[in-house]
Amino acid sequence: DSEYRARLVVLGGGGVGKTAIVKRFLFNTFCEKHQPTVEDLHYREFDLGTMTLKVDLLDTAGDLQFPAMRRLSIANAQAFLIVYSIEKSSSFDTMKQCFEEIREQREDFQEIPMMFVGNKSDLSPENREILKEDVAEWIFCDLPRLRTKLMECSAKDNVNIKELFKGFLQLAKIP
Ligand code: GTP
Repeated sequence: DSEYRARLVVLGGGGVGKTAIVKRFLFNTFCEKHQPTVEDLHYREFDLGTMTLKVDLLDTAGDLQFPAMRRLSIANAQAFLIVYSIEKSSSFDTMKQCFEEIREQREDFQEIPMMFVGNKSDLSPENREILKEDVAEWIFCDLPRLRTKLMECSAKDNVNIKELFKGFLQLAKIP
């Protein structure tokens, strides 16, 4: 059996739901309370039939207060989940800022799989501040030729969480 080890880093603004997505995916739990993360590393093996996928999943701080830690996590990542919240327009700017840091730091950024994720899709339309089309325009017009995907999800209602990680596997061409 072959195996593949992936280091996946979750970036994005404060409170957008990075931890909630990770916890929903790994433990199928959801917490209403917001507890800011500094850094949490999770490890999980997946049996994909023909291969074992070993994933290091790094949940990072959203308030961008820890630049040295973020630099290190960006330097060591093989793929990124970059999360924004559809109800917080500033989280789109933070996502762009995260992307710029990757671009500045990683010469190989064009080959790195990046999943852009709009979380909290369960919220009602009147709470929405970011349209998926606007994010798509930024990704596919400003960042063409990159290995990217865009999805909306809800960690709260468990919508598109599995699909997100499946989409990531496709992006990373695993297996
Ligand atoms: P930092 O660690 O501070 O960067 O935050 P984070 O991005 O890890 O956010 P976290 O997962 O802690 O969630 C922040 C808040 O948003 C919490 O109160 C969650 O309950 C809430 N939340 C997370 N995901 C969803 C979602 O899909 N829908 C809704 N409605 N709320 C969510």
